[in-house]
Amino acid sequence: MQQDDSNRIQYLRQELQRHNYHYYVLDDPQVSDAEYDRLYRELQDLESQHPDSITPDSPTQRVGAAPLRVFNTVVHSLPMLSLDNSLNEGEIRAFDDRTRKALNTATIEYVCEPKFDGLAVELVYENGLLSVASTRGDGVTGEDVTQNIKTIRAVPLKLYNYDTSAGARLEVRGEVIMEKANLARLNETRALNNEPLFANPRNAAAGSLRQLDPTVTAARPLDIYFYGIGHAGNLSLASHFDILQYLKKTGLKINPLTEKCLGIEQVIAYHHRMQERRETLPYDIDGVVVKVNSLALQEKLGIRTRSPRWANAYKFPASQDMTQIIDIKAQVGRTGVLTPVAEMMPVNIGGVIVSRATLHNQDEIDRKDIRIGDWVIIQRAGDVIPEVVQVIHSKRTGAERKYQLPETCPVCGSLTVRPEGEAARRCVNMSCPAQIKERIIHFASKDAMDIEGMGEKLIHQLVDKNLLRNVADIYFLNREQLAGLERMAAKSAENIIKAIDNSRSRSLDRVLFGLGIRYVGEHVARILVKAFETIEKIAQTSPEDLQTVYEIGPQVAGSVAEFFANSENVQIINRLKEGGVNFSAGTAVKSADVLKGKTLVFTGALQRYSRSECERLVESLGGRAASSVSKNTDFVVVGEGPGSKADKARELGVKIITEDEFIALVQPKQ
Ligand code: IVH
Repeated sequence: MQQDDSNRIQYLRQELQRHNYHYYVLDDPQVSDAEYDRLYRELQDLESQHPDSITPDSPTQRVGAAPLRVFNTVVHSLPMLSLDNSLNEGEIRAFDDRTRKALNTATIEYVCEPKFDGLAVELVYENGLLSVASTRGDGVTGEDVTQNIKTIRAVPLKLYNYDTSAGARLEVRGEVIMEKANLARLNETRALNNEPLFANPRNAAAGSLRQLDPTVTAARPLDIYFYGIGHAGNLSLASHFDILQYLKKTGLKINPLTEKCLGIEQVIAYHHRMQERRETLPYDIDGVVVKVNSLALQEKLGIRTRSPRWANAYKFPASQDMTQIIDIKAQVGRTGVLTPVAEMMPVNIGGVIVSRATLHNQDEIDRKDIRIGDWVIIQRAGDVIPEVVQVIHSKRTGAERKYQLPETCPVCGSLTVRPEGEAARRCVNMSCPAQIKERIIHFASKDAMDIEGMGEKLIHQLVDKNLLRNVADIYFLNREQLAGLERMAAKSAENIIKAIDNSRSRSLDRVLFGLGIRYVGEHVARILVKAFETIEKIAQTSPEDLQTVYEIGPQVAGSVAEFFANSENVQIINRLKEGGVNFSAGTAVKSADVLKGKTLVFTGALQRYSRSECERLVESLGGRAASSVSKNTDFVVVGEGPGSKADKARELGVKIITEDEFIALVQPKQ
């Protein structure tokens, strides 16, 4: 191999490793995804020309191991312990009392961190290289899942800044998790393929890690947080907090919500805060873990058989409970889809009273064999709608009744159909009041026409009073009609009329999205408007020609054509025009081009968006986000504390703009 290639390979590996570190550990990416991919592909190319140069720690070597036949077992050199629980404030106070007594001290410094709902693993690094990864197993022995762990992008194959004076062998511990949104997406696909769904992130993480074929694991969106060490050679650290900082420095991602808490009151306050934030976190947590910070004190306290005396899991109220299904009703959505909803005896789950849960569709009901009268376990995971996890078969009396979605619509009485190969049953009547309500709710919603004050309740009233029959009627409402409604003050009526008026000038892509055409989400709506500019052109284009546009597939094309072939829809559009709604392509589309061919560089800390959000935005608007300033740079966007890049820009006479100016530049004007 030529020296040049060899140097380049070394360089690319180092760069990719550095970018991984900034992206995963510091959450502050230094390059755009596109740039990262380019470096990655260049390395892949070079390695395929020089296969001998490939080392197991190369960033390209995450997947590729052959499937295993069985998992080997790994004996943990120090047992992986479990945690004692506290289920309420009294119990955590008792833990603090016990601990203070044992240490004979008035106040203890704790470290509090989220308790992740995932699977505990141990990773062993030898001379900085990942050598073995294993599951917790029974705490003493686990399974060797090295090949699978390597597929998790946040796991470094090689430690960063590793200082061998800390010892040749470093054992680190953490939790493999799956973010809620990723779990939901995975379950959607599994439902389509008639595969059993994962009931929670823990099962999803375990099911994904315990795959004999690493390519299956690689396709699962797993993530990891590190929270401790096992045996760690010569590391001389004084506290748990220092261990975490050490892990972070070494390239192992720790959780940013970790905090030192002095005394039990601060611990309780932290628990409250986390419980409030719980829903909005991207991953599930089921409590907080409270650990005595000082390692010397930890040692003094020691361990029981299976759990340390220096730590405690202060759980949140359970997010699962048992209840009985009283009835199942079908709810009709915007596109006429019938969703079966279970009505249940109310239960308090994690502080929220739950009396309804979605059953998704008929296949789900059949697969879980859910019947009216069944006792079931239900769960509320994060901000998703409560779900039935499973039926408690032992509680069946024989009086339970099976359920089938109705063949006629429960709202309008029209026929419902379930097309071959589809999971959903639909009401075919476009004028079904339930569908009308949902369509108008969607049209007025924030991401579509954003009509402030026009929420679900108001829309229900207006449809029931026959003041709205479709979305176009909104633009013919007057003050008197609104003021005549229940609990509607003159002032509110006035505000709604104003909000409706404001919405007349929304960009065409929002109008198109608001129409609720199947498969036309915000992104597709923008593509269509950009390609065709007017609604007439979109309506007149054949499905075949629609498909010539990049990203428009047969499904979207067919659905768009079907929508415009329906004369009722055409009438609604004409009436929207009469009502003064904007139908010209306008500025939103122009803004899609605003950065075409432009190169931007970001420097300093941005306030409104993260660095990677900005870069994605630039790319979505046709521009390029680069990491260094050159004479080809068009704009340098400076945040707080800009570095040498701003100096360089001044030197080269490149235009410098602030974050606000950048936002003004890219925001669609409406
Ligand atoms: S520390 C002795 N920290 O909880 C310390 N564990 O019941 C034991 N877990 O098996 C682990 N989040 O799977 C620790 N921040 C966290 C954790 C955490 C979740 C899990 C882990 C462990 C179980 C112990």
